[in-house]
Amino acid sequence: MCVGSAGTGKTTIVKALYGAAMSRGESVSIIDPNGALGGFFPNDLDAYLWDRIAHKKSGLLVLDDADSYVPKIAGKDSPWRQIWLRNRHLKTDVLVSARRPASLDPLMLSNCDKLFVFATSRADRPGIKRLEEIAPGITIPTEPYRFIAWSPKTLTGDAQHGLVHRAGGFSLDQEGDE
Ligand SMILES: Nc1ncnc2c1ncn2[C@@H]1O[C@H](COP(=O)(O)OP(=O)(O)OP(=O)(O)O)[C@@H](O)[C@H]1O
Ligand SMILES: [Mg+2]
Repeated sequence: MCVGSAGTGKTTIVKALYGAAMSRGESVSIIDPNGALGGFFPNDLDAYLWDRIAHKKSGLLVLDDADSYVPKIAGKDSPWRQIWLRNRHLKTDVLVSARRPASLDPLMLSNCDKLFVFATSRADRPGIKRLEEIAPGITIPTEPYRFIAWSPKTLTGDAQHGLVHRAGGFSLDQEGDE
């Protein structure tokens, strides 16, 4: 999961992560509302997801710029609920990028293995509050292209600082962020 304001480097890291999955031979499906990644956007996204679930389609599901189409709260009958709760069972990994942490489904966040936090606009106070709740003690970056990688499931801090590169890809600092 990558969150941060516009232009901070989320899609750059998303590309690097799914590129690595592709080179491991995994199947990768890219939901890409702006077409920036050469992915697609289904006419009926719920139907697309139900179909994946029904066929137990494995591999990586990339959801770039998710704010506009991932519901804030997945209803009881929503395929999203299955995606967040049953992805391990379905052998699907999900890679999400979004600008506004305040709009993210708590179910998704509590099931998220790794969070990449980029600079978040000070104007988005609810979003910042939300990030501080999920990742107590981390320092949200203030500059673009810098991020903190953190596992929300780990209670003790083992956050890492990182930087995305203009040419693509990213690097992680060796030191932790305790
Ligand atoms: N270290 C860097 N220095 C300069 N430019 C960079 C660096 N890293 C990435 N960029 C460039 O910054 C631009 C924005 O990056 P990117 O598209 O990854 O941001 P984003 O967070 O996905 O933005 P959006 O929210 O608009 O989708 C891209 O053109 C990217 O190549
Ligand atoms: Mg992007």
